[in-house]
Amino acid sequence: MNRLFSYFYNMKTIKSWSPGRINLIGEHIDYNDGYVMPAAIDKGTQFEITINGSDNMVDIHAQNIDDSVKFKIGEAHGLPMWAKYLYGVLMELRKYGADIGGFSATFSGDVPIGSGLSSSASLECSFAYGLDKLWDLHLDDWQIIKACQKAEHNYVGIKCGIMDQFASIKGRSGNVMRLDCRDLSYQYLPCNLGSYQLVLLNTHVSHELATSAYNDRRTQCESALNKIQDKYENIKSYRDFDLNFLESTQNILSDIEMHRARHVITEIQRVLSASDALLAQDMVTLGKLMYGSHESLSHDYEVSCSELDALVHYTRQDDKVLGSRMMGGGFGGCTINLVHEEHIETFINRIKQQYYNAYGIELTAYQLNISDGAQIII
Ligand code: GLA
Repeated sequence: MNRLFSYFYNMKTIKSWSPGRINLIGEHIDYNDGYVMPAAIDKGTQFEITINGSDNMVDIHAQNIDDSVKFKIGEAHGLPMWAKYLYGVLMELRKYGADIGGFSATFSGDVPIGSGLSSSASLECSFAYGLDKLWDLHLDDWQIIKACQKAEHNYVGIKCGIMDQFASIKGRSGNVMRLDCRDLSYQYLPCNLGSYQLVLLNTHVSHELATSAYNDRRTQCESALNKIQDKYENIKSYRDFDLNFLESTQNILSDIEMHRARHVITEIQRVLSASDALLAQDMVTLGKLMYGSHESLSHDYEVSCSELDALVHYTRQDDKVLGSRMMGGGFGGCTINLVHEEHIETFINRIKQQYYNAYGIELTAYQLNISDGAQIII
């Protein structure tokens, strides 16, 4: 009865938007107490959500694919994948005691799916942000960020880190953020790249098994750290030792664990150096660190693929490109490239041709603007 009352007297509708993200450097270390340097982009997901007056009936329409679901809160079964993200968000918000009743929602988005630009965080965060405002939940940003991350862990099955949801909520126009994933402190760093710009190249491949491979990497890193901790009690995380120390533990780690841990340790150092380089506007150093990150992701962490490696390789013949690497979870998606602003068109055309000749696939290039994070649209 209360909800019916609020429906007729408030007829509340809200429109929310939350972006996808890029990541300048710091890959696969958000779940290893590392640092990351993401930024929100000007592509995202928009929701319109209206209280429908029922106690727990929800209907959601996905405009891009013209698909709909209806369920009762707490009683959903057999949902399509896109709806699992949303159901997960809803259930995780309820764990905070959020009293969310029935509603109707519709959404659309322009973050290319499977491109490593985190369309999923954009979906979750826009939804959570909208529900928070619609039901006056007054959750803080970190509660929303963590609920969205947990939705992926508990309802989708990806044990993701916190980077994507953090970027989608906390993004600030013109800035990348350096997030310390150990204590969640962060700084905004103006993304001044001098006469260089970031260009993304989408391989348009998204290899199977990415989810299980992602979770496997996480397990391998945990197991390497556990073995080290068993022997050295003072080690709490990957932040407590360097590469020399890691190499001294060779006899207790498997080959795979050694490689995974080496990526984590070296990538943490690369992010620190990259944020110094960005502040000093030293694009040459930043570019070298991006190449270093790719090598490590490809050889030590083994989350690249032939298409991503090829795109990075093609840039090495071009002195107008300072850096290139795979971005996001890997196994497909985009590379991020640091390219001289006067050379962007030539660069894109040349790489398009090379990639098409090798794989028969038309890649898409994006020059994205760095935008603000989640917002309510008036
Ligand atoms: C995905 C995850 C993030 C992060 C990246 C790799 O985008 O959602 O948490 O681990 O992969 O850096």
